[in-house]
Amino acid sequence: MKISVIGCGYLGAVHAAAMAQLGHEVIGVDVDASRIEALAAGQAPFFEPGFPEILRAALDSGKLRFALAPASEELADVDVHFIAVGTPQSEDGKAANLTYVNSAVDMVLKALPSSDTAAEAGRPVIVGKSTVPVGTASALAPRIEAAGATLLWNPEFLREGFAVADTLHPDRLVYGLPQDAERAKTGAAALERVYAPLLAEGIPLIKTSYPTAELVKVAANSFLATKISFINAMAELCEATGGDVTELATAIGYDERIGNKFLKAGIGFGGGCLPKDIRAFQARAEELGVESAVSFLRDVDAINQRRRDRVVAQAIKIFDRKIENAKITVLGAAFKPNSDDIRDSPALEVALRLADAGAQVTITDPEALPGVATRYPQLITEADVLTALTGSDLVLLLTEWAEFVNIDPVQATELVGTARIIDGRNALDPCIWQGAGWSYAGLGR
Ligand code: UDX
Repeated sequence: MKISVIGCGYLGAVHAAAMAQLGHEVIGVDVDASRIEALAAGQAPFFEPGFPEILRAALDSGKLRFALAPASEELADVDVHFIAVGTPQSEDGKAANLTYVNSAVDMVLKALPSSDTAAEAGRPVIVGKSTVPVGTASALAPRIEAAGATLLWNPEFLREGFAVADTLHPDRLVYGLPQDAERAKTGAAALERVYAPLLAEGIPLIKTSYPTAELVKVAANSFLATKISFINAMAELCEATGGDVTELATAIGYDERIGNKFLKAGIGFGGGCLPKDIRAFQARAEELGVESAVSFLRDVDAINQRRRDRVVAQAIKIFDRKIENAKITVLGAAFKPNSDDIRDSPALEVALRLADAGAQVTITDPEALPGVATRYPQLITEADVLTALTGSDLVLLLTEWAEFVNIDPVQATELVGTARIIDGRNALDPCIWQGAGWSYAGLGR
């Protein structure tokens, strides 16, 4: 099939390469000329394990091309257009900004052949993948249908660091379909052809309405955020009582109804999705007059924020408030390991707050340093972990990259000024670190 992917950010670029890998003829379109140039040259504009390989293979096979928006001619005879543009948080810090979704749809509609021809051929199908406030698809559909096309909503659940696997082997596929039965049938049939190899593997398919499909995405992210904040709330209780949240999580996780995943207590969640999505969900619920239904998400957000406050307070307390010029090493800048993404990164926020408090903060990260060095001159960036540790008065492990978790505490003791560590991800074995002479503090243990 001929496929376009509008928006070649994280989601779109991976989706485009993955669809080419499934055998489709794919064109990736973006408004950013340097991004298009890099992708067309086989260079990944972000760090994602496995992505450069599938990108280059797709380019070599001739199945994948990139073009600068509006690319009208290239879009004219496409069967399925995927909308994969961002929906960033608006300036008010709440609702999702739909500017890019609207302009992507406009661009596709302008490139369509005359509506008669399109309707006869039963195509094209426009498929929304971006995370949007519930109601967006219903609002977009009339314009799309008037132009002879059909809209489907097909949310994406990929995690950074696992984006390729999550796209090619998702847990489930969700199709939000139009109410009109004929349109729904044509649209679903087109998407089934796109995903035929995945469906052949037996990946569950849920066919539903637009609002349910949109809600599935925000509900899933809200549930995940709630799970993390729940265990972090238990960490607060453990801190008040001398309990150990890691043991508590293991114990409750054995109950299959609870499950052991997403129960890692620490400095909490960040990134480009969970924090933004739970805020946008609250803003949308307020517009719909049902804000009380998701008011608990305010607490989820507040608990998450408190974990960052807690680590900053712990560090300041260690220096008995004399933190000025204290040499602090922060291990990790990305919001999680195997990513170079620093959007709403808990690690970076803690590092910046300690620098604001007057400490001399050296930050290290295997992939995220370039973004930090250009934007935050108040932090010292150091690519080599051992150099970053040298002379340090306090080490904070804030992103649990394997490189950091595997640091040899005996070797590290010899480098630092004072062997003191705050393990903001509860990723280290306290006995081993204490055995090597370190003063160890976790979160909630
Ligand atoms: C998330 C969803 O998982 C994904 O399905 C959705 O499509 C996009 O948003 P992502 O933002 O890539 O994916 O990261 P995720 O792996 O979910 O981690 C989010 C944050 O939660 C990270 O900062 C991570 O460190 C933190 N986290 C995760 C915890 O603090 N504890 C945990 O137990 C799990």
